[in-house]
Amino acid sequence: MDFLEWATSPWGQRVPIHIAWFLIWVAAIAGLLFLMVHASYVRYFAKAKEFANSESPLIAARIPEHVPRHSLTARLFHWIMAASMFTLLFTAFLPKVGLQFDWVTYHWIAGSVLTVSILFHIIHASFFMDFWSIWPDRVDIRDARRRILRFFGKPAPPPERFAKYPLENKLYHGAIIAAGLSSILTGVFMMFRVRTVFFPRNPYLFRDMTWGMMYVLHGLAGVGLITLILMHVYFGLRPEKRPITKSMIFGWMSRDFYLEEHDPARWPVGASSSPSRLPGAKTERLTDAG
Ligand code: HEM
Repeated sequence: MDFLEWATSPWGQRVPIHIAWFLIWVAAIAGLLFLMVHASYVRYFAKAKEFANSESPLIAARIPEHVPRHSLTARLFHWIMAASMFTLLFTAFLPKVGLQFDWVTYHWIAGSVLTVSILFHIIHASFFMDFWSIWPDRVDIRDARRRILRFFGKPAPPPERFAKYPLENKLYHGAIIAAGLSSILTGVFMMFRVRTVFFPRNPYLFRDMTWGMMYVLHGLAGVGLITLILMHVYFGLRPEKRPITKSMIFGWMSRDFYLEEHDPARWPVGASSSPSRLPGAKTERLTDAG
């Protein structure tokens, strides 16, 4: 069994040309297995969530009824990225599993939309949003340790409530960065192999081996994205996560959900109140915290 498909170049060199397409099924089955195992675990084994401290009524009273979570710009970015991502997945993989159509043009157009939207997101997140909110911090690491110990029945204090994003979401974002950037960087070069409106076609830009490796990386990132996107959609549809999904549509989450899962000291929200002035709360800009 070979994970790659090979060909012989005009110079007699054996070069990889892309991944073996059965990996599409491996990725899809891995994603579906994850969903089944997770859903069964939550249904039959998981205990109720437990956090270290609940909020004092004084702080709770100052939290607005609708807690702003995603600005309109951040939501537009998310849905444009999602549309281009689904278009890329369907145009890439449907022809490989038997549904033939002229996919390449739709694919590079969706790829260009994704590339521009990601460039925009990097600038937006770096200069206008709270950049560090999506990277694991020390409390996340300490609490991950506590959660693992508790999972195995060992004594450990309960974790604190989350900042804006739980550790799982931060790790997922990291995986999407790796797969997304790999597919974008290779995809931009691969546009030289096909006719686009951006630059003249130049299949001689790289040697056969380099092109081959590029197609392999593009394919690996692509099948990785099948698994990652399946997981993302599954979590988005799960009943206990629906308030988070709704916040990606309407921009806010309810005060009750916020207080249940989030720590106002780690993710202060403002609006009518000013939690940054409350004891223990860090200051943070709230208008466009994405
Ligand atoms: C979800 C993300 C993506 C997935 C799943 C994906 C998947 C694929 C797959 C499986 C192929 C076939 C490659 C082969 O035959 O070995 C392909 C080709 C291609 N991709 Fe993507 N891709 C993605 C993102 C992108 C992006 C962001 C761009 C452009 C910026 C892009 C541009 C291209 C081009 C131009 C080709 C055609 C190459 C050719 O036919 O020679 N892709 N993609």
